[in-house]
Amino acid sequence: GRLVVAVDGPSGSGKSSVCRAAARRLGAEYLDTGAMYRAATWYCLETGVDFDDESAVAVAVEETPLSLSTDPDHQKVWVGESDVTHAIRESRISEAVSAVATNRQARSVLIAEQRRLIDAAGFVIAEGRDITTVVAPDAQVRVLLTASAEARLARRGAELGGGQSAEALQRQVIERDVRDSAAANFTEAADGVAVLDSSELSFEETVDSLVGRIES
Ligand code: CDP
Repeated sequence: GRLVVAVDGPSGSGKSSVCRAAARRLGAEYLDTGAMYRAATWYCLETGVDFDDESAVAVAVEETPLSLSTDPDHQKVWVGESDVTHAIRESRISEAVSAVATNRQARSVLIAEQRRLIDAAGFVIAEGRDITTVVAPDAQVRVLLTASAEARLARRGAELGGGQSAEALQRQVIERDVRDSAAANFTEAADGVAVLDSSELSFEETVDSLVGRIES
């Protein structure tokens, strides 16, 4: 039968790499909903949309010819013919993505697409900010992956490498947390959502814990 696993968590909680590793281990599909917000943001930048114009942003998101693979071994994201897999990780995207994430109409477009992708999958781990609460509240397994601010900043720093100063990075993560929590409250687990705190866990231990919850 179908098995849907919903995982939410803030920036730097490690949810993308943890969910991808768990999906790989279990033979599940993997849906990175953050990549969809990022790809829609890439399209807005590409087409020169005015980010202050909410309805223009919503229209652009609706028009974004977005496709992405749910194979955890081959994570690819396209907008039309453009492979944007790497481009959507650039800091210009991280800096602009909240304009899409806080846009109610844009969210409903992306949420509908996420539900369609989840429904099309047999066994899927879907990851984001509002998966346990809004996108797939009926998922059989619902987990909030958290980590202390210190642990999240340390991981983000290791991920991004030497490109930015520690302070710039810290500012970016904190500012995005603040902007995100205005749109979706992912810092507290909703009813029936298990909290998995990875602050004191290694990457492998976190994956083991998530896999254990899915298998039980
Ligand atoms: O880089 P990070 O892991 O923090 O973010 P991401 O998972 O790639 O998501 C990028 C951005 O998309 C987040 O900062 C949120 O603003 C937004 N997002 C959202 O609003 N809802 C989701 N389900 C997933 C992402």
